[in-house]
Amino acid sequence: MRTLFKNIKELIQVREAGLDFVSGEAMNDLPTIKDAYLLVEDGLIKDFGSMTECPNVEADKVVDATGKMILPTWCDSHTHLVYAGNRESEFVDKIKGLSYHEIAAKGGGILNSAKKLQETSEDDLYEQTKVRLDEIIALGTGAVEIKSGYGLTEASELKMLRVIKRLKENYKLPIKATFLGAHAVPTEYKDDKAGYLNMLVEKLMPKIAEEGLAEFVDIFCEEGYFSVADTEFIMEAGKKHGLISKIHVNQFTSIGGVQAGVKHEALSVDHLEEMKDEDIEALKGSKTMPVALPGCSFFLSIPYTPGRKMIDAGLPLALATDYNPGSSPSGNMNFAVSAACIKMKLTPEEAINAATINGAYAMGLQGTVGSITVGKEANLILTKPINSYNFIPYSFGANQIESVYIKGHSIV
Ligand code: NIG
Ligand code: FE
Repeated sequence: MRTLFKNIKELIQVREAGLDFVSGEAMNDLPTIKDAYLLVEDGLIKDFGSMTECPNVEADKVVDATGKMILPTWCDSHTHLVYAGNRESEFVDKIKGLSYHEIAAKGGGILNSAKKLQETSEDDLYEQTKVRLDEIIALGTGAVEIKSGYGLTEASELKMLRVIKRLKENYKLPIKATFLGAHAVPTEYKDDKAGYLNMLVEKLMPKIAEEGLAEFVDIFCEEGYFSVADTEFIMEAGKKHGLISKIHVNQFTSIGGVQAGVKHEALSVDHLEEMKDEDIEALKGSKTMPVALPGCSFFLSIPYTPGRKMIDAGLPLALATDYNPGSSPSGNMNFAVSAACIKMKLTPEEAINAATINGAYAMGLQGTVGSITVGKEANLILTKPINSYNFIPYSFGANQIESVYIKGHSIV
């Protein structure tokens, strides 16, 4: 199956193979080809270039993209897509002035979602999650990471991971699974956090590794949840079971989680709303991708990750949605890109790099998606007619997507 896209006004994020991620000043560089063609064969990017060099090939489908742009689909490297029901009532509590911690203390929060999920069947959970996955694909996401962490029992954590496994089997986009058993201490273990962590490591991790249910391991490193020592314990155990770390750190407090992540070669450290200078220093020269989640800052009215300062310090940055029922009930990467520009002062080039190639790296998918590169999957956004790619973040709350292609197949 061959598709030829012709007369593309601008082909965005054109890269040679082998680039892992971009950082510092290079984030402001977004290579493009104006008046371009793109050839897709059997789901992969086969060839591209200037229209003046467009080859005369037989194609099963020809798409005339006059006035429209093509860019790689968004890479959303941090979501909690599998959950049961929602937390609308807490939303109202929040409007009335209760904080995230106060809501959790009165029986809301992660434990509220866990209770709902424990009572939901795997099939029901799968159907609820499918709706959200279809929704984000239509919004341009073409690779996604999904976490467990609303199960908090052996059975329910496995139920969540099996839902992710079914999604992987039934969808064409790359999906990565993260084991986040250490998301909160469940009520049954409220006076025995160590016992809960031991259960995760001794009972669950071996099963997860054996059944191949996750690639990554995560923990909520935060005051009132899990300490830096707990985080190191989980990362070390993960390593023994072949699980790479991607961790929640510095959402409300900076307590050393970034340094622990770097020390244990975490693939990413995510949230980072509270960053001390030493946290930025610790990331320099490391292979750990900092990930900002502006939807969470917007929804909880907490500070935005100091992305401008971090990029100016030479760091890379990725953007993700954190789609979850408590702190970011939206999986809209277009909004994350807009908010990064408007609130974090990233340029459109930086934000698009953060949401594509750097997001791919934060899932270990830099060889598969995240740029227009020969051999990568043809996961593409075809825009509506627009004048410049700046219009994508500028038109916040809307999106400029006409079609989304996953492995060369038009989904929307
Ligand atoms: O990434 N901060 C920890 N976990 C999620 C929110 C979980 C929830 O409130 O349900 C997050 O923001
Ligand atoms: Fe999260």
